Amino acid sequence: MYDVLVCGSLNMDWVARVAHLPCPGETVAGTSLQRLPGGKGLNQAIAAARLGARTAIIGACGDDADGAALLATLAHEQVDHSRVQRRSECATGLAQVLVADSGENAIVVHSAANGTLRIAELDWAPTRVALAQLETPSATVAEFLRVAREHGAVTLLNPAPALPQTRALFVHADVIVLNETELAYYTQSAAHTPQAYGELARRLCDRDGQTVIVTLGAAGAVAATRHTFHHEAAPAVQVVDTTGAGDCFCGALAATLAQGSDIRAALPRAVRAASLAVTRVGAAPAMPHVFELE
Ligand code: ATP
Ligand code: RIB
Repeated sequence: MYDVLVCGSLNMDWVARVAHLPCPGETVAGTSLQRLPGGKGLNQAIAAARLGARTAIIGACGDDADGAALLATLAHEQVDHSRVQRRSECATGLAQVLVADSGENAIVVHSAANGTLRIAELDWAPTRVALAQLETPSATVAEFLRVAREHGAVTLLNPAPALPQTRALFVHADVIVLNETELAYYTQSAAHTPQAYGELARRLCDRDGQTVIVTLGAAGAVAATRHTFHHEAAPAVQVVDTTGAGDCFCGALAATLAQGSDIRAALPRAVRAASLAVTRVGAAPAMPHVFELE
């Protein structure tokens, strides 16, 4: 039995540091360029594993050097990657990531092999928590969450990036985690205070027992059900790179739920883990280990 089973993307991130993010038409000089493991699925799986969760990932990558490097990373992090399909006909996913001195980022994702993950290939493994995002096809995500619920797993959906016609997936999830931009997309509304974010989050609750969590960057996160609301503030930190902050939050939340906590108790740990991740470079490499939190 796994603690966390992730269905999601694996990308090689090409991370360029820049003084500021370029405006349309502007060229800026890069100050460094690194190739780092990434992809929302891989990042979330590593975040969960580093916090002590027995973790496996379902995904697809190319039969190429990037794919081999990402699988080696997963193995090193003790994430079971036996359910990652290798594709000879397409490349491993790739993300072009710009990180400004402020820590903000802008990302272009080339889904490549991630876009080929098919329902028929979903290789179920018993798990306490099932976790998915939207960098693999939405029909695959829907089937993954449906099967997970059928097997009694707690289902967690991170609808990132926000995409057309994916609102219908929310009903399959016990917990939904999204950031401010994704919340605005799915509610077509803006908010400016934690309470107002909580109110919008509540609107996304499809049923009793479902929780919608909105991550608010430096302001932490809010969690809402149809009947409750809680705001968890984030510690003040020196931000280096926010890439993967949301992924860290999701992986940490999934690991902590799998370890027996309820959402109210898991929320502070997820916020603390993500706030630590933003003080370091990269997505997957920045995920904290359990000894750093406790
Ligand atoms: P990204 O897209 O950059 O990966 P995100 O937009 O999905 O991140 P955020 O809402 O920015 O996610 O952040 C997720 C969590 O990371 C927050 O709930 C918080 O715990 C932590 N975090 C992010 N930015 C900061 C910050 N400036 N200071 C402290 N904690 C932060
Ligand atoms: O959430 C961060 C991730 O988004 C990066 O690692 C990049 O691969 C993109 O998928």
